[in-house]
Amino acid sequence: MNHKKLWIALLLVVGISFAVLLFYGNQIYQKAPPVPEQVVDESGNVLFTGSNIKDGQNVWQSMGGQEVGTVWGHGAYVAPDWTADYLHREAQYLLNKWAGGDFDSQSSEQKALLERRLQIFLRKNTYDKATKTLTLAAERIEAFEHNKAHYTSLFMNDPALDKLRSDYAIPKNAIKDESRMEKMAQFFFWASWACVTERPGESITYTHNWPNDAQIGNVPTGDLVIWTGFSIIMLLIGIGILVFVQARTQQEEVLKPVNDPLMNQVVTPSMRATKKYFWIVNILILAQVMLGILTAHYGVEGDALYGIDIASFLPYSITRTWHVQIAIFWIASAWLATGLYIAPSLSGRDPKFQKLGVNVLNWGW
Ligand code: HEM
Repeated sequence: MNHKKLWIALLLVVGISFAVLLFYGNQIYQKAPPVPEQVVDESGNVLFTGSNIKDGQNVWQSMGGQEVGTVWGHGAYVAPDWTADYLHREAQYLLNKWAGGDFDSQSSEQKALLERRLQIFLRKNTYDKATKTLTLAAERIEAFEHNKAHYTSLFMNDPALDKLRSDYAIPKNAIKDESRMEKMAQFFFWASWACVTERPGESITYTHNWPNDAQIGNVPTGDLVIWTGFSIIMLLIGIGILVFVQARTQQEEVLKPVNDPLMNQVVTPSMRATKKYFWIVNILILAQVMLGILTAHYGVEGDALYGIDIASFLPYSITRTWHVQIAIFWIASAWLATGLYIAPSLSGRDPKFQKLGVNVLNWGW
C-alpha cells in the first residue's frame, strides 16, 4: 500500500470514529433523564427541589461517590448499586403494604397480581415537562420516607446496622448531618426513579442500573440483546480482518542488529539523572500495591485490618480511590522517564543542558 492510501485510511478511521462519538455524545445530552425543578405530592405541596437532588449528588460524591457502591454503573461493588438497592426496598415496601403485611405468604396468583400492579405504579411517568414538575403518589412518598430512614441509619450511626455497614465497608458517621443525609436520600430517589420510569410514549426506562430488578419489570430489551451480540460479532470480525490482512501482506525483511544496542549504550550524565524518576515510579507502584491489598482486605473485614481500626483514618473509599489513581501517576512518570532515558541512549550523547533539564523537571514535578 502506498502512503496516500494509508493517509486516506487513517483519516477515514479518525473521521468516522469522531462522527460516531459526536453523534452519541449529543444523543446522551439530549436524552438524559430530566432533573425536575420540583417534586410535589398530589396536592401540589413541594417535597423537595432539583437543587436538593443535585446537592444530594454532591453529598454522595463527597463521601467517595463511585468508590462507595455505585449509581448507574461502574464503581465499587463492595457496597450495592444504590439505585438498585433503593428500587428493591421501595418495591418490597409497597408489595408488603398491598399484601396487608407479608407479600411472601401470598398465593402465586396474588403475588403475580401485586407485582403487575407494582410495575404499572412505578413505571408510570408522572413528570410534567412543561412545568418541570414531578408528582408523586402518597404511597410513593411513604416508600421514600421508609427508605430515607434506612439510609439515615446506614450512613449515620445506628448500631443495629453495624454489621451491614461493615459488609459494605462504610465507616460509622460517613454522613454526619441530618440535612445532608436527607439530600442524599433525595438524590438516591431521583437516580432510582430514572431507572424505573418509562420515557414519554415509550416502554423503555430513562436509563438502567445493575443488577436489574425483574420484579419491577426491568428486563433487558430486545434491542439491547441484539446490539450487544452484534457488537461482539463485529469486534471478532474486525480482529479477523486485521489478522487476515496482516498475514496476506508481504512483510519487509527487518535487519536485526548483530549486538543488542542497549548493551553497548553510553550512559550519559542526563541518563543517570533519570534514576530518581524510576525510584519515584517504584515507590508509587509499591504504594499502589499496598493500597490494593488494603482495598481487597476491606472486602473481607469492612471496618478494620485484622482488628486494627484503620477504617477510622483510611477507609475503603480512600484506599480504593488512591489505588486506582496512583496508576495514572506512575504510568505517566515511567513514560516520561523512559523518554528522557532513551533519547540520549539512541544518539549516544547529551544535548547541551540536558542533565540540568532532567533535574529541573524532576524538582518542578
Ligand atoms: C497486588 C497488587 C494489587 C492488588 C491486591 C489490587 C487489588 C484491587 C482490588 C481489590 C480492586 C477492586 C476494588 C473494588 O472495586 O472493590 C482493584 C481495582 C482496581 N485496580 Fe488493583 N490491585 C493490584 C494491582 C493493581 C495495578 C498494578 C493496577 C494498575 C496498573 C491496578 C489497577 C486497578 C484499577 C484501575 C481498579 C479499578 C477497576 C474497576 O473499577 O473496574 N491494580 N484492585
